[in-house]
Amino acid sequence: MSTKEYVKNIIRDKNIASITPTSKKGVQEICGRMNLDNRVVIVEYGPATGVFTNYLLERITHDSLIIAIELNENFVQYLNENITDERLIVHHGSAEEVEEITRKYADGKADYVLSGIPFSFLTPELRDKVVKNTSLVLKEKGKFLPYQTFYQKDEHLKKYLEKHFANVHDQYFFRNLPPMRIYEASK
Ligand SMILES: C[S@@+](CC[C@H](N)C(=O)[O-])C[C@H]1O[C@@H](n2cnc3c(N)ncnc32)[C@H](O)[C@@H]1O
Repeated sequence: MSTKEYVKNIIRDKNIASITPTSKKGVQEICGRMNLDNRVVIVEYGPATGVFTNYLLERITHDSLIIAIELNENFVQYLNENITDERLIVHHGSAEEVEEITRKYADGKADYVLSGIPFSFLTPELRDKVVKNTSLVLKEKGKFLPYQTFYQKDEHLKKYLEKHFANVHDQYFFRNLPPMRIYEASK
């Protein structure tokens, strides 16, 4: 997708939230927290043009699966037209539906859930629902890996992570424009 097309989508859809895709360094930092040596099921919320998706498809095993859940129809169409890989399912829907979606395409369980959706734009009820449902689909040793822009407050995401997960860590990451806040949550 050209920059012009990407920007046009942003103007029409506030849920995209970021003017640029995550940097290569940011993608490496977050994906480096996953063990991709064996078969994994990865759920990705908000893939947009697929910066994480493409990186992961180059590294996961032949029998692994990525279920990408995207709210914006133009990005769904873009991904379907530009990535042809049987290990990728692009689902047009919203992150809070993760349980039904993961049951539809896998056995209802995921090793990792990656998320680029802007939690500050969601209502408190929806934030809680997304984080709770994410904890329900993750396997015992699974990880939830959301990333946000650096100025996000704890009330936007961290407090919900602490409610539904036993272990929550976060760090600021500056090799991205704008800088990011990266979270890691496990049971
Ligand atoms: C900040 S962009 C992240 C794009 C990309 N993952 C990256 O890192 O560059 C946020 C993406 O989340 C999508 N999105 C927003 N709310 C969503 C929701 N509730 N469920 C699924 N996708 C959502 C937007 O359409 C957009 O593609």
